[in-house]
Amino acid sequence: MDIQLYDKYGFNPNCPSPAEAHPSDTYGKSLELSARLEADILTNPQNHVLLTGDRPTGRLHIGHYFGSLLNRVRLSGLGVKTYIVIADYQVLTDHEVFSEIAQNTKQLVIDYLAAGLVPGENCVIFPHSYVPELNQLMLPFLTLVSNAELERNPTVKEEIGAAALKSVNAGMYTYPVHQACDILFCKGTVVPVGKDQLPHLEMTRLIARRFNEKYALKKPILPAPFALLSKSPNILGLDGSQKMSKSRNNAVFLSATEDETAALIKKAQTDGNRTITYDPVNRPEVANLLVLVSLSTGDAPEAVAARIGDGGAGALKKALTEALNEKLRPLRAERARLEKDPAHIRRVLLDGVERACKTAHQTLTEVRRAMNMEI
Ligand code: TRP
Repeated sequence: MDIQLYDKYGFNPNCPSPAEAHPSDTYGKSLELSARLEADILTNPQNHVLLTGDRPTGRLHIGHYFGSLLNRVRLSGLGVKTYIVIADYQVLTDHEVFSEIAQNTKQLVIDYLAAGLVPGENCVIFPHSYVPELNQLMLPFLTLVSNAELERNPTVKEEIGAAALKSVNAGMYTYPVHQACDILFCKGTVVPVGKDQLPHLEMTRLIARRFNEKYALKKPILPAPFALLSKSPNILGLDGSQKMSKSRNNAVFLSATEDETAALIKKAQTDGNRTITYDPVNRPEVANLLVLVSLSTGDAPEAVAARIGDGGAGALKKALTEALNEKLRPLRAERARLEKDPAHIRRVLLDGVERACKTAHQTLTEVRRAMNMEI
């Protein structure tokens, strides 16, 4: 990567400026930066390194699929160098159960490949626990942030509230620094994430900037990454709750059968109004089902609503079941094939680990050199 692209703070002058990227960013600002980033990726895919990740806590559902997976497949298909980190260590911050992490990791890989990601030189998929030199960045990075900064992270605070842990472990407060290691080990510049991850990206930018200022002022080595926010609408749970999530039993998994999909949709929450209209504000549950038909077929939600009209919730659910099952059929067939080939999944992971280790080694060498710690 051409370091000239970055100013002394590690910011790319062709992209958002340091002032704009200050931690006081508003969501609106982030959306604007994200749109500019998207435009730059389309014209100069070779100038960007995309990194994103998932915690291996379970299988992916259609919310993940429409909200992020399809976007990753699209961007990676443009030729942007892509890293997908499976954040297995992060699971330990708020889960007591650890016995399923490796199993979930493999299921994630199956979902990725079935959705169309092609692993290899341009798409590196790996669990971060397997990349020692990525983890080694954690120690110098921890010295670049204060306890107060760790404690005020709103996403961490929310997770502490939601996890109802007996006691909060230090990993909970420090994982955003580890996430900075995930992003900076490969000099990631584009991070497709949801809104909840913005504080972590601010933390990553802060670390990159402070590192460059302290250790690499003349020749910055860590670029500042920016969020690429999803443009697809937020998918609600089928029970009408705010978020589709496996713990609430309101999600259609990519791995579900067509019958399971039909049964879940049958139980989906709607309202008493028989005439189907697209009104996200007043009829969020019906709108959510219409959006899902729209995402599955490519037709606008208003057009789907008009077609169903007085057919009522029954007709809407039938339309959604058919559309979604049809959309997911090839993915599910590929999924089933991959499930029968665990050796291949393991090879994909080990190949990703090898590539990630090479990159991490290069970055750690540069970091060590900048810190004057090379012997
Ligand atoms: N924190 C992210 C989540 O909960 C997962 C993650 C780990 C991640 N490392 C990352 C996302 C690096 C983007 C970049 O979903």
